[in-house]
Amino acid sequence: MYSLKRRKTARLLVILGIFLCCLGLGWSLAAWSLEPIPERFTAGRETYLESCKGCHIAIPPQVMPTETWRKLLEKPQNHYSTSVDLLSLSQVLIWDYLRAYSRPLYKDEPLPLYLEQSRYFKALHPRVPLPQPLTEKTCANCHLNANSFDFRSLTPQWDNSP
Ligand code: HEC
Ligand code: HEC
Repeated sequence: MYSLKRRKTARLLVILGIFLCCLGLGWSLAAWSLEPIPERFTAGRETYLESCKGCHIAIPPQVMPTETWRKLLEKPQNHYSTSVDLLSLSQVLIWDYLRAYSRPLYKDEPLPLYLEQSRYFKALHPRVPLPQPLTEKTCANCHLNANSFDFRSLTPQWDNSP
């Protein structure tokens, strides 16, 4: 009688253990849904996400030229109509990340400050009819997980389009 009860408890514990493991795995997978990048840049990306999302979604580095990122980081107190608080350590880490994941302007090309003006944004959207006006609020129309910094997953309408 007694040992049967103990065995039952043991089985319950094993089931509970498996359940907790699954839960933990689920959580860590969720945390890992960011695209894998070399470890050297992960702190920069983390800092970028902490500092540059909230007012708007975090904008993926490759849609703007390197020079635009540099300008925004150099003058965070003049950020469009507002001001962004940025520690100088954050500035350095973010710059390291954004510089590595964006590409430079052509010589003499005007500096875009809005996505709408960016050649790189356009190059990533060949044949996609884009909303007018194009703001960061419209990304989620087509990018299912734009709020989680995932620009690979598309809404079903776009997922299988050429
Ligand atoms: C305090 C709020 C706030 C924070 C924090 C913030 N931004 Fe902004 N950001 C704004 C506002 C306001 C605009 C202008 C939106 C507009 O005019 O449509 C903007 C616009 C932008 C744009 C142009 C988007 C477009 O629609 O073309 C970029 C790029 C940008 N921010 C990058 C950054 C970066 C990089 C950081 C982190 C260093 C950051 N933002 C942090 C408020 C913020
Ligand atoms: C009308 C739908 C639509 C809107 C709005 C849109 N995108 Fe896209 N985006 C796409 C499609 C479709 C692709 C894939 C393009 C292809 O494969 O030709 C794409 C590709 C991208 C990529 C490249 C993803 C990769 O595979 O690395 C980035 C980055 C991106 N978009 C960012 C943005 C941002 C930021 C915004 C908001 C300012 C935005 N997009 C708004 C449809 C859209």
